Amino acid sequence: MNRRQVLKGAALAASSLAVSRFAGAQGASAGVDARIDVVPGEAIGTIAPEIYSHFIEQLGGVVYDGVWVGERSKIANKNGIRLDFLKAMRAVEAPVLRWPGGCFADSYDWRDGIGPVSKRPNRAAFWDQQEPNRYGLHEFMATCREIGCRPYLAGDLRSMPAREFYQFVEYCNAPAGMLPSNSAAPPAVDTLAGERAANGSPEPFNVEFWGVGNESWGCGGNQTPEEYAGEFRRYSAWLPRYGKEPLKLVAVGPNGDDVDWTRRLFRALAANPEKRHLWGLSVHYYTSGSPSQFAAGDALQYDEGAYYDLLTRGSIMERVVTDHWGAIEENGGQNKVKLVVDEWGAWYGKGTELGPNYNLSQQSTMRDALLSGITLDIFQRHADKVAMANVAQSINCIHSLMLAREDQFTVTPTFHVFRMYLPHKGATAVRAEFTAQAIDNPMAGAPIPVGGNSYLGSLNAVKTLAGLSGSASMRGKTLTLSVVNPHLERAMTTEIAVRGAAVGAVKGTVLRSGDVHDHNDLRIWMRCGRWRRWWGRRVGGGWCMCFRRRV
Ligand code: AHR
Repeated sequence: MNRRQVLKGAALAASSLAVSRFAGAQGASAGVDARIDVVPGEAIGTIAPEIYSHFIEQLGGVVYDGVWVGERSKIANKNGIRLDFLKAMRAVEAPVLRWPGGCFADSYDWRDGIGPVSKRPNRAAFWDQQEPNRYGLHEFMATCREIGCRPYLAGDLRSMPAREFYQFVEYCNAPAGMLPSNSAAPPAVDTLAGERAANGSPEPFNVEFWGVGNESWGCGGNQTPEEYAGEFRRYSAWLPRYGKEPLKLVAVGPNGDDVDWTRRLFRALAANPEKRHLWGLSVHYYTSGSPSQFAAGDALQYDEGAYYDLLTRGSIMERVVTDHWGAIEENGGQNKVKLVVDEWGAWYGKGTELGPNYNLSQQSTMRDALLSGITLDIFQRHADKVAMANVAQSINCIHSLMLAREDQFTVTPTFHVFRMYLPHKGATAVRAEFTAQAIDNPMAGAPIPVGGNSYLGSLNAVKTLAGLSGSASMRGKTLTLSVVNPHLERAMTTEIAVRGAAVGAVKGTVLRSGDVHDHNDLRIWMRCGRWRRWWGRRVGGGWCMCFRRRV
């Protein structure tokens, strides 16, 4: 890329620029559509590798079929786990995987999923499902091991007694062998560590991330922030700790921009000075496919207005991050607590499911890729505030990177965005100012409904979308800049000024497609016979995938 780069309509670009020596600031040039000013000397913070994290739960076809096909399946698998899922998760270097939910976690007994398979119960479970418990804790840990990522578990705060929660931690983390008692009692083998060993895992799982409940304002118990604060304190007052690092406990935070929840929660937590166990505040923000109804709208059929409106409402993530950060600071300045956006994505209505039993599965187009870029850029720009983020959910669900049904498998455009953003992972976010004329959102009218399962709230309408957005980071002398051009038709000639440095070699990757409705489809995929080549081939600087045009 040159400093003056034409970014074609509805495209994402990620470029690496080698900064070789210091120089003066660049002046603006005439005839450009947009300008990006990068200031490598102004660091925001280290971009937590965990912001590119993932989430799966027993829901529709996410775990059963998506992740778990069983050891005896004809579908390529590693100990029952779908091989293509593992490969794709490795390709995006997934740092953390959250499980078992989600609303499923709010009534899940972790003990049901351990021990001999033949003895595991078949239970009524959330989402009106029957849960066979074939995929449980040990299978999940094996999934994480195979991917090379760290686990993030959620405890069922709605129905599990506090004792079960600390025994869950003990089962996962108690070391094997003789344990000193830290009392006058003689060392002994921990009984739960022994049970874990008998179930095939002598070595501890060493789980550091623990969700203390999920959506306690909704499916997790319909609680008030004050009620939840009491529960959080009770469940976290003491948990077995092995090793030097404290457990990273994540409290249930708001739905969307419900700042009232955050304020009241922190006020209630501050009423008791014991708050050292809190590491992160969970935030869920979904962008509905419809401006007037939550979890509605079509994943594939949308006109220009709906396209811009969705991206505008998705960009509210910026406000969600800053509002909650502000609310935490207001209440006792507890800004050691970081945000954990452990559910995000575009949530559409019914119509593009993989099949009748694939609840909440939906198609994903280039529009979703752009939303992914906009969202990851927001997290990167707020590297000082966001400690983790988990896309909901990795496969066969709302904003997935992969779709799978039986022996068919494909990746979505969002998968490529996660690959493109890898150079930012763990780098230092630096200030970057984007100047471009904003795009009007004609659909901004009434308040926007937001929700998750069993919650309704609303947000003020937003009238404009940034004409160009992105983020920048430095690693050594390499600057990575990611840019989203949301214009459907308009190429943006953009001048990039790197303040206080001179740019040497430049290389870039662009994700674009002829039609923003383009997507990967399982049937087409099979017809193309390209399933072995799904990693994508680079053609003319863009990713060539087997996209299908619907509209
Ligand atoms: O991701 C789907 C669901 O959305 C999750 O189970 C729940 O936490 C949220 O409401």
